[in-house]
Amino acid sequence: PRSIFFSRHGESQYNVEGKIGGDSELSERGQKYARALPALIMDNIGDAPLTVWTSTLQRTILTAQHLSYNKLTWKSLDELDAGVCDGMTYEEIEQAYPDDFAHRDEDKFNYRYRGGESYRDVVVRLEPVIMELERQENILIIGHQAILRCLYAYFHNLPQADLPYIKIPLHTVIKLTPKAYGCDEER
Ligand code: F6P
Repeated sequence: PRSIFFSRHGESQYNVEGKIGGDSELSERGQKYARALPALIMDNIGDAPLTVWTSTLQRTILTAQHLSYNKLTWKSLDELDAGVCDGMTYEEIEQAYPDDFAHRDEDKFNYRYRGGESYRDVVVRLEPVIMELERQENILIIGHQAILRCLYAYFHNLPQADLPYIKIPLHTVIKLTPKAYGCDEER
């Protein structure tokens, strides 16, 4: 049976600073994860064929850099666009846009950042990615927190309201093996 592997990019400079969005490089720890990834994937897949998908953002491309499989970059896999809040910390957002911050808390799935996206928008933009995923063999997606939440919810059939709170930790590979109903999962 084919498997779909999900991993967030290695820890980025912005992750360390608590800033959202952006296009920063990997931290020291993030680079270490990128170097550990080839052996981890090899242990799981042996010499079966695999294709690696990343977003167009540096932190996913750098995380994939030591993997010697075919790679594809998808603009549709870029992180949820936080619009005017891109590059801010959550504290800065709460200060600058207190009403927005509260609204996001009330309905995180539908909340759309000013000049940016909502989780609902991301689910729509991921449709072509999901269509392609359904047709492919073994795929490793090196992605972003919000994006992987949407993909994970799709494969596990989780409700929209829970989707924005799914825990997708850094430095963890999630292996999904689709079955007739649902998916097996290993981390
Ligand atoms: O902090 C990392 C990050 O990927 C941000 O770029 C993004 O805005 C955020 O996580 C998404 O998580 P949440 O929807 O919980 O803010």
